Amino acid sequence: MSETQSSNETISPAPGPLGGTIRLPGDKSISHRYAMLAAIAEGTSVICNYSSGADCHSTLGCLRSLGVEVKEDGRDVTVRGDGLHGFECYAWQLDAGNSGSTIRMLSGILAGQAFVSRLGGDESLSKRPMQRIMTPLEKMGAKISARDGKFPPIEIHGGALQPIEYDMPVASAQVKSCVLLAGLYADGETLVREPARTRDHTEVALREFGAEVATGRGWASVRGPAKLHGRELSVPGDLSSAAFFLVAAAIVPGSSVIVQGVGLNPTRATLIDFLVMAGVEIRILEMGMKNGEPVGDLLVRGTRLKGGVIEKQWVAALIDEIPVLAILGAVSEGGLTVRDAAELRLKETDRIETLAVNLRRMGVAIEPAPDGFHIPGGQRFRAAELDSCGDHRIAMACAVAALRADGPCVIQNADAAAVSFPEFWQSLRGLAS
Ligand code: S3P
Repeated sequence: MSETQSSNETISPAPGPLGGTIRLPGDKSISHRYAMLAAIAEGTSVICNYSSGADCHSTLGCLRSLGVEVKEDGRDVTVRGDGLHGFECYAWQLDAGNSGSTIRMLSGILAGQAFVSRLGGDESLSKRPMQRIMTPLEKMGAKISARDGKFPPIEIHGGALQPIEYDMPVASAQVKSCVLLAGLYADGETLVREPARTRDHTEVALREFGAEVATGRGWASVRGPAKLHGRELSVPGDLSSAAFFLVAAAIVPGSSVIVQGVGLNPTRATLIDFLVMAGVEIRILEMGMKNGEPVGDLLVRGTRLKGGVIEKQWVAALIDEIPVLAILGAVSEGGLTVRDAAELRLKETDRIETLAVNLRRMGVAIEPAPDGFHIPGGQRFRAAELDSCGDHRIAMACAVAALRADGPCVIQNADAAAVSFPEFWQSLRGLAS
């Protein structure tokens, strides 16, 4: 169904219903957090099923540059932490690659170090806004400069920090995490309020490592200075990666796919609620807990799709899945409307723009807006040359769309998928064979 040529992938229309069982890479968000916390904990941590994605390896690369011993054995990563102040000063620029999570969350930890750090990344990362972390970290006492005052590379003059109460202007788990991680270094309680619920993996992980964390509706706090303890952890499968297969199974009639061992944290599982509301048949087959995170197996079947609306509080919880939900929307009866989602324009690419470019190449109508888009339902997909534009989620969303096209589609810059899911193309082939 698919063949590789340099960085292009050719995806043919699904020859029949998709079937089979998928195992996913370890959750990207959780992998970043475990690695960073392990690096500032005391003692050794073993992280099983660490994400195979390039982003999480950018985090490991930065930690190694900071003198942390990190060993990889397949999907298992061993990190030897030496406490909150165990890093060595790195004289050059730390390379966060394509990873917004790496640069924004690690900045919180580096703000507490008594040395100067520089962080940068690739062309896409160099266009992503950093004021959102600079403002709270400066309130805590760090001095930070950035290119044009707001973009990477950034330079952090860290040191003694004071606790703050911070009302985040945007609902961002990366910003919340950055402030909580800096709070580990401050003397007292650091509290963050969020305008909409965002993923809470940092709060859960901090508790696992022994930090004093409190949470309530719309806020989270941590007490510093903290002492974290190295430990063994296991990362659940990535629900945001599962989303591509959930939608693929939903849009190819007659499909029946099982997704195993996937993280079902309620702050992420809004995806399941949305898909069910949109008419997808999903059953949770098995449920358990791993290190404070719910994990389960899902069975998804293709049925009649209604479509839906994503707005307000739903946006933050579904932000990474919107590109692939757009494909579902175009196939569904009612289409998909997305509002209040201007954050889409600040991701690895401007995802409203890159979605529109690719859908239009397939002859699919989309009406973009400054903060979202509308895609009418009941549309047909024409075979076309598509382009990830270097964005992993756009590459994978295009591949899912190609399953419904009237001929083979070429996806250019397909290797972008490796940012979160290097095995994606192989897994997709497996389902359709
Ligand atoms: C993430 C938070 C989200 C998400 C990103 C991962 C995290 O970003 O889009 O892929 O792990 O905290 P924002 O914090 O910018 O919303």
